[in-house]
Amino acid sequence: MKIKIERIEENFARVLEHSSLENGIQRFSYSVEDLAVRAILLEQLEELGLEIRLDGVGNLFASYNPLESNKRPILIGSHIDTVPDGGKFDGLTGVLCSLEVIQTMIDEQIQPQIPIVFVVFAEEEGSNFGTTMLGSKYWKGQLNEEDLNVLKNKDGRTALSVIQEAGFDPSNRECSFTSMNPAAMIELHVEQGGILEEKNLDIGVVTKIIGMNSYEITIHGTSNHAGSTPMHLRKDPLLPAAELILYVESLPNTYGSDLAVATVGKILAKPNGSNVISSEVSFTVDIRDTSKLGIESMSLALQRKVGELCKPKAFDYQIELVGKSDPVALSSSIIQVMESRLKLENIPYHKMPSGAVHDCAILADAIDVGMIFLPSKGGISHSPDEYTSMEAIEQGAQLLFDCVKELAG
Ligand code: GLV
Ligand code: MN
Ligand code: MN
Repeated sequence: MKIKIERIEENFARVLEHSSLENGIQRFSYSVEDLAVRAILLEQLEELGLEIRLDGVGNLFASYNPLESNKRPILIGSHIDTVPDGGKFDGLTGVLCSLEVIQTMIDEQIQPQIPIVFVVFAEEEGSNFGTTMLGSKYWKGQLNEEDLNVLKNKDGRTALSVIQEAGFDPSNRECSFTSMNPAAMIELHVEQGGILEEKNLDIGVVTKIIGMNSYEITIHGTSNHAGSTPMHLRKDPLLPAAELILYVESLPNTYGSDLAVATVGKILAKPNGSNVISSEVSFTVDIRDTSKLGIESMSLALQRKVGELCKPKAFDYQIELVGKSDPVALSSSIIQVMESRLKLENIPYHKMPSGAVHDCAILADAIDVGMIFLPSKGGISHSPDEYTSMEAIEQGAQLLFDCVKELAG
């Protein structure tokens, strides 16, 4: 039974009609673009006759269960939100391939013993509130209304109010991880790195997913005139910030494992005037490693260094942990199903860790989780230049279909 790549391609085109493309895709959760793509998906899910549910933050679930089985379901899906100036393939590829898997099952009148639930998690990228995988963390019970009331977007609005305004009620826990009680999740995703391309392979089987701590650091100084304030009378918060940014670069080598990374990706100086000494600077620090110890050691060193750099001129500062996820190992039984399928079809593949985080990682401490990777051209992602070929997507969707069919019986 073959999945239909033409249908996936048509869906890509339909979705991309609704996303701004000039500088890449801007499709943040709860935005007009997000709602338009949700509408496209909902229309198709309804046409397929699936049972659709939305939870308190807008995570979307659609269940295919023709035998009305009460066995623990298998989840397939990903996310549709993007980073600022993002690409076409991150998240959306897994969503459209998962939709195609269910569509093929229906076409072929396959009636699985186990329900299959298509899922689109909200706010995976953290583009609104700085917390990655917000939707899956909420669904799993790791974030509550109080947490949502603390997280703010760039306009100072809380996650709680943005989510409520989009028509969702985070206090409604009717559709939760516990109530669904899934047995497994398989997420197909683009690699977002260059290993598969380097090896000239179309399929990666993911063995583990990196963990991360995300910090927001604010340093307060004294705003003043850039011309008339002599150098020795300044309290410029950008100076400790600059030293800290250089220090972040050194953290992985000193404290992390081979796969450790650390990034300052977002900076905001206030008031941001060319002839004004800043009153305050805030910036993010994203720390990742496949070892929990590595993440903790880098985080402690970072906090120590902020204190050390701010002390001489008595800068006030805050360090906020805005997001956290543990490194996880993926299910050896799902990996085995993938490998035997690939061997049967004579498809070469590579077993590899994921340096990006993914919603399925949030579930991996409780259920079996597997991931399929597809090559990213030039290893580029989180960029308008992100590209994965339809040939690779076809192979990945077929593997996803074959694995789900085998697991769901
Ligand atoms: C999500 O894409 C992440 O790895 O930050
Ligand atoms: Mn993604
Ligand atoms: Mn991403």
